[in-house]
Amino acid sequence: MNYVIGIDLGTSAVKVLLMNEHGEVCHEITKSYPLIQEQSGYSEQDPNEWVEKTIAALQELVEQFDGEIEQIQGISYSGQMHGLVLLDEEYNVLRNAILWNDTRTTEQCKQIYKTIGEKRLLDITKNQALEGFTLPKLLWVKQYEPERFEKTAVFMLPKDYLRFKMTSLIHSEYSDAAGTLLLNVGEKKWSEELCQLVGIDRNICPPLVESHECVGTITEDIAVQTGLARSTKVFAGGADNACGAIGSGILSDGKTLCSIGTSGVVLSYEERKTRDFQGKVHYFNHGKENAFYTMGVTLAAGHSLSWFKDTFAKDESFESLLACLHEVPIGANGLLFTPYLVGERTPYADANIRGSFIGIDSSHKRIDFVRSVIEGITFSLHESIEIFRENGKTIDTIISIGGGAKNDTWLQIQADIFNAKIIKLSSEQGPAVGAAILAAYGCNWFESLEDCADVFISSAKTYTPVPENVEVYQQLYHLYKNVYVQTKSLNEGLQKFRKIES
Ligand code: XUL
Repeated sequence: MNYVIGIDLGTSAVKVLLMNEHGEVCHEITKSYPLIQEQSGYSEQDPNEWVEKTIAALQELVEQFDGEIEQIQGISYSGQMHGLVLLDEEYNVLRNAILWNDTRTTEQCKQIYKTIGEKRLLDITKNQALEGFTLPKLLWVKQYEPERFEKTAVFMLPKDYLRFKMTSLIHSEYSDAAGTLLLNVGEKKWSEELCQLVGIDRNICPPLVESHECVGTITEDIAVQTGLARSTKVFAGGADNACGAIGSGILSDGKTLCSIGTSGVVLSYEERKTRDFQGKVHYFNHGKENAFYTMGVTLAAGHSLSWFKDTFAKDESFESLLACLHEVPIGANGLLFTPYLVGERTPYADANIRGSFIGIDSSHKRIDFVRSVIEGITFSLHESIEIFRENGKTIDTIISIGGGAKNDTWLQIQADIFNAKIIKLSSEQGPAVGAAILAAYGCNWFESLEDCADVFISSAKTYTPVPENVEVYQQLYHLYKNVYVQTKSLNEGLQKFRKIES
């Protein structure tokens, strides 16, 4: 039997997954690392920690593996998108990575629009200038840390840095490069025009390859440290959302994914590069060659629930926190939550908005708050679905993965709020499975990603919307949408009172 490893470099942890030729998950190891948040709106991580934790996880995985080590034929990666890693000429890390959920770059987004123009930016990158994307981060470093910027020889995205540390080879690939705002998404090349206009040296952009492409093998040093064979092939991999899509079989038109991790996304496959969503949703290259996907993002999806748990139920598990969720009626006994804990992306690109609980009543129990958090996250994701539907997409069936697929009640809430059939997969590890599929296809085990997905992915259960629930949720959704409008200026007023130093 042969095996591949999918590595998912997430925001809270790295997960390594060993899968065999039958698509069975044989071992799984997760190692977490912290976020560094020195100021409100800042979110960083130490890239070396990603590497250390991945090596430790691979070591453990190899220890548990009882086959011939050469049978582990390939490795590929899925990674948190947009994060900026800067390397000097000797390939030393110049500063902590600035992550996708860091919102310090509103000023740089405005500069980008001023320099390039909204329309031209959309023509080239198919996306808006958003705080989370990589180019605004590069411009922030250029403006506020010029001595570091001067020393920059290459910039990398998180999983590309991890792959570099395991191979000594520098690459990026289209699905992650699409989230930098420096890629011409339709033409699949770094945009010379954009680089020139914003004053970024085109040479600091890494060479681009396809997600399934073999870039080389692991280094001797990594082989010694992990116990993996030196001959283990390394495949480029993809952005976590592209890999989540591959790992859920979102490989043809009409397929939609809801993935709830730290962020939450609703993602829909796009065959064409010419659809126009006016930048309302992201439009990125897929990990499948020459395909695309469009996507709306809720910045704090799982993050809202883990914030709630860490703050109000630290010593409890998610299972116990959510145990009585089904006993609370729709609408959480009159409590509404908006998940804007770190600002928002879709449909409001707003770094200043913050979350709310509306309607707190002295009869409310903790479980009412939990239900309202879950409903609020789901309403926010529904706003992306609404944009897709308004633009002519049919969204009637959605594959749900991640934290939101771990709880039956939440899956039914998704069916009722989205008014669509929700499918839960047998293994809901989307991004890591997607990375493993890229490695399996890259190793030539299958003729196509689709053939591989047919073997690696299967559905476990379907949740159908209940018409009465759909109707009640539609009324609540109307109220939910009002909260953003009503709290926008309040949050602007509160901005100066937010925490500055940790
Ligand atoms: C997508 C995004 C997030 C991260 C999370 O645009 O910013 O989903 O990829 O890892």
